Order: sequence, then C-alpha cells, then structure tokens
Amino acid sequence: MSDQHSHQSFETRAIHAGNTADPLTGAVVPPIYQVSTYKQDGVGGLRGGYEYSRSANPTRTALEENLAALEGGRRGLAFASGLAAEDCLLRALLAPGDHVVIPNDAYGGTFRLFAKVVERWGVDFSVANTSDVDAVRDAVNDRTKLIWVETPSNPLLGITDIEAVAGVARQAGVKLVVDNTFASPYLQQPLALGADVVVHSLTKYMGGHSDVVGGALVTADAALGEELAYHQNAMGAVAGPFDSWIVLRGIKTLAVRMDRHSENAAKVVEMLTQHPKVTQVLYPGLPEHPGHEIAAKQMRSFGGMISFRVQGGEEAAVEVCNRAQLFTLGESLGGVESLIEHPGRMTHASVAGSALEVPADLVRLSVGIENADDLLADLRQALG
Ligand SMILES: Cc1ncc(COP(=O)(O)O)c(C=O)c1O
Repeated sequence: MSDQHSHQSFETRAIHAGNTADPLTGAVVPPIYQVSTYKQDGVGGLRGGYEYSRSANPTRTALEENLAALEGGRRGLAFASGLAAEDCLLRALLAPGDHVVIPNDAYGGTFRLFAKVVERWGVDFSVANTSDVDAVRDAVNDRTKLIWVETPSNPLLGITDIEAVAGVARQAGVKLVVDNTFASPYLQQPLALGADVVVHSLTKYMGGHSDVVGGALVTADAALGEELAYHQNAMGAVAGPFDSWIVLRGIKTLAVRMDRHSENAAKVVEMLTQHPKVTQVLYPGLPEHPGHEIAAKQMRSFGGMISFRVQGGEEAAVEVCNRAQLFTLGESLGGVESLIEHPGRMTHASVAGSALEVPADLVRLSVGIENADDLLADLRQALG
C-alpha cells in the first residue's frame, strides 16, 4: 500500500486507491485502456512505463494498486481468474520435491489444481484440518514450502486461526497463503495477521455482480511481489483492461455490500436453525460453530455464505435447490443476487472420493442483498 492511502479508512481506500483522475482529461474514473501496445518516443522511450499490456496496463495497474491498498499489502497482481492467480503463485514458488500443506476443506478447483496439475510436476501435498493448529504443525515436514489456508472455507464454512497458523509457518520457515475470497478484505485482513500472500477469486465479492471472472494475489513483502509480478508476465494469465475496470467498479461498494450480506445472512441463519427440515446450519456467526470465537476475533462480521444440511439426504437437498426461485440455482457466489447450489454435484464434484468430499445432503447459499423477508419466504417454500 502506498503511504498516500495508509492513513485512510477501508471505505475511503476502496473508492480512491488506484483511482487517480485521468491525467489527460481529468476523468474521475480510470479509463478502460483497451490497448495492447504503446508508442515509444525513440527506442526504449516509454511514456509512463508502459510497453505491452501483458507486462502492464494502466487499468490493471489501477486495480492492482487498489487491491494492495485494501489488503494492506505491498503489491497487488490481477489475473484472468482466481485459479490463474493460484497457478501463478504455485509455479513461481514451488519446484519438484517441494511439499505443501492444504486444507481438508477448500474450493474444489483449488484441490483439483494441487491434485491433478501441480502434483504431476513433482510437488506433493498433505491434507490437514487447518482449524486445528496442531494438525497443521504435524503436517509440515522438511520439504514443506507453503501452508495453504481458506477461511471461511468453501463449502463447510470452517474457520482457521490465521494468526496461530502464521506462527507455525514462521517457526517452520515456510510461507502462509490465505484464500480470502469468502471474507473479502473488508471483513478480514490476513496480511496483518501474519500471512505472506492473500489469494482472491475476484469473481466473487470483490466484483460483486456476477459479471466478471478474475483473480488476485497480494503480498505483504515487496520483493515477493516483484517475483510474482515477474511470473505473472512470464506466464501471461493477466486480467484484461475491461475486466480490471469492472472489478475496480465493484470494489467501490464492497463495504456497504458486505455489511448487507452479513445482515441478511444472520436473518437467514436464524430461520434455518429453527426449521424442522434443517439438521445442521454451518455459519461462523453461530455461537455453537467450533470456529465462532476465532471468527469473531479475526473477522469484522461473518459474511454472506451459509451451508446447511437437510433431512432426507442427497435427493432432499437437490430438491430444495430445484424448488428455490428467488435464490437462483447456480455456481459461484458473492454477487448482489442470492444463489443456491448443491456442492456435492456442482462446485465440489471434483473432490468426490477424496479427503475433501462434502456431505451429500449439503446445500450452499450465497445470500445476496435483496430484501431479507423475500429471501426468507423463498427458502421456506423451497424447504417445503
Ligand atoms: C474460495 C475460492 N477460491 C478460489 C476460487 C477460484 O476462482 P475462479 O473461479 O475465479 O478461478 C473459487 C471459485 O469458486 C473459490 O470459491
């Protein structure tokens, strides 16, 4: 984060960091620099440092500066998707023979990246319950280079104590990566708690409107940021100018959206916990959630993601998803509109048969910012 923004509150940074008025016209919103190359004033004479848009593009730079400011990091990097960001990070930092600790609950695509892509290149991993700090410590060996954490996790809403795991990572001399997609930097600041790198699917709360796919890495350390920027350019899966612009636009309302997501989710949780057809509600805001105290310590509020289990098993869970009307049946999350899905058959189909397999009777909600009473009415009719 530049010194210019370090004293500002989150909401102010969200709107202003990286959003300097266009020097040519004074436009208050950064233009979409839909361009691949830049005229040079003589060989090597770059105006403003831009030479080719894979290496850098002014609209992407605006987003990257904003991301660094929001996470309190030194460097932000924007990618074509969350998985592109993860891939860049893993291939930049790992080599054959290295080992990684990954959570026993994570986005299915993240697990697939480790199990089906990275492992083929000679990197192995151990699956650990990262909610249990001792289990993380036990999973580290002398080849470990990274500990990967997702909190709250997708789809079981598990909570990992970032500060405690950062202590384990520091002691072992390994890096801690936190996927902050479910919380967003408004609710949780992993770098301040000791993480080295934050990962985002910008597709979710950051974009916030289900209209763009993107990813990000933010580093606490400038040198690590430089190393990742080198790989971002060398590997090439960058965020395009329009996608960067639309994420930057979404981020301006992140704080107000997240407040409403959390408020609506609390009302939905209250209804679900009393519903006779619901056998378990997974939400870190519930006092009986095993990670509740840690979540209350490291998160501003508990966010808009809820999972719950229904009486009647897989078919009953699928039926609830099919009957919902206002909750749109679809993958992804974090948009202003509410979504419902069956993780076992949809987002997490890729973890079937693995240590990350999810319960068949699980339903996941991404609670949007519609009127809460309308959302409750739809869920009641979907539950039957
Ligand atoms: C927690 C989490 N991390 C990473 C990703 C991957 O991001 P993307 O779909 O933008 O590649 C997702 C996508 O659902 C996710 O939920």
